[in-house]
Formats: sequence, structure tokens, C-alpha cells
Amino acid sequence: MLARRLFLAAVLALVACGDDEPKRPVYSTVDPSAAGLSGQPGCLLPPPPYSGDCKVGAEQFAIACADCHGPDGKAQNGWAITEVDPPPPKPHDLTDTAYVGDLEDEYLMRVIACGGLAVGKSAYMTSWVSAMSEDQLRGLVCYVRELSGT
Ligand code: HEC
Repeated sequence: MLARRLFLAAVLALVACGDDEPKRPVYSTVDPSAAGLSGQPGCLLPPPPYSGDCKVGAEQFAIACADCHGPDGKAQNGWAITEVDPPPPKPHDLTDTAYVGDLEDEYLMRVIACGGLAVGKSAYMTSWVSAMSEDQLRGLVCYVRELSGT
């Protein structure tokens, strides 16, 4: 609980900053430590725009995401986490135009940069903010749009 209070205090202190402050940083709205799970408390999103170069994203997807989401993003072949009980939720098909079409770029950036917990989803969707550059993260948002045709 103390960690949660400190986190809230930090957020409030930020909000209290003057109007002259630039709009970033944007913080994750969820404090994963409050949920007792590992995560990325106080995760910083890159500044907008949240989407970037699809080619950069495609390269990163093959390296970092395809193991779980499948090389085609459908999570049909690549979903290999079966040894934990209860098993984690299978990722949504990222080629689903209707589903991904409803998601904002800011949401996609948040789930990719800060992890599933930052959007109320599974911790098995990990945080990539420390592992990738801002442009790689933006590229991934673009690539998820490309996969879904949105
Ligand atoms: C260890 C497995 C794993 C890896 C690696 C992984 N993901 Fe995920 N991802 C998940 C799971 C599990 C979910 C679904 C979470 C849920 O529905 O609760 C998910 C969900 C998502 C979602 C959709 C969120 C939604 O609203 O349904 C996006 C977008 C996503 N991941 C993108 C990526 C990208 C891009 C990468 C590579 C940087 C990546 N993921 C790497 C497991 C993974």
C-alpha cells in the first residue's frame, strides 16, 4: 500500500506542475506493484506521435513478439506458454480488423511500451520500454496497424 501511496503522490506532484510544463511525460495509469506483480511502475511513454516506421516495427516484431503472437500476429502457432497453471490468456488475433480498429494508437503504445498490466491485461504481455528505442516502439504500433489493416 505504501508503494501505491508513493506512486499516487508522484502522479499528483506531476499533475500539480505548472501549465508551462510540456505535456509529456505520460505515465501508465496502473501501478503494477500495487497488484503484487512485476511490471513497469511509472513507465514513460515516448512522446507522440505514437506511430512510426512500419518497416522498423516489422523487424522488431519478428525478433521480440512473434514467439507469443506468431509470425503473422494471429497467435495461432507461436503461443507456447502452456506450462503455467492457470495458463495465461492467449493474445488476441492482431490481424482482427474490427478489434484492432477500435484501439487508439495511444493504447497500442501503452500496452507495448508499458505491458499488459498498464491496460488492465495479462502480465504475460511484458513491458518493452526499457528494451527498445522510441522509434522501435513507434514502428511496432505502425506494424500492428499494418497487420490488422487499420
Ligand atoms: C511472452 C509472450 C508475449 C510477448 C513476447 C509479446 N506479447 Fe503481446 N501479448 C501477450 C499476451 C498474453 C497478450 C494478451 C493479454 C490479455 O489479453 O490479457 C498480449 C497482448 C498484446 C496486444 C493486444 C492488447 C489487447 O488489447 O488485446 C498487443 C497490441 C501486443 N500484445 C503487442 C505485442 C508486441 C508489439 C510485442 C513485441 C514487442 C509483444 N506483444 C510481445 C503476450 C506476449
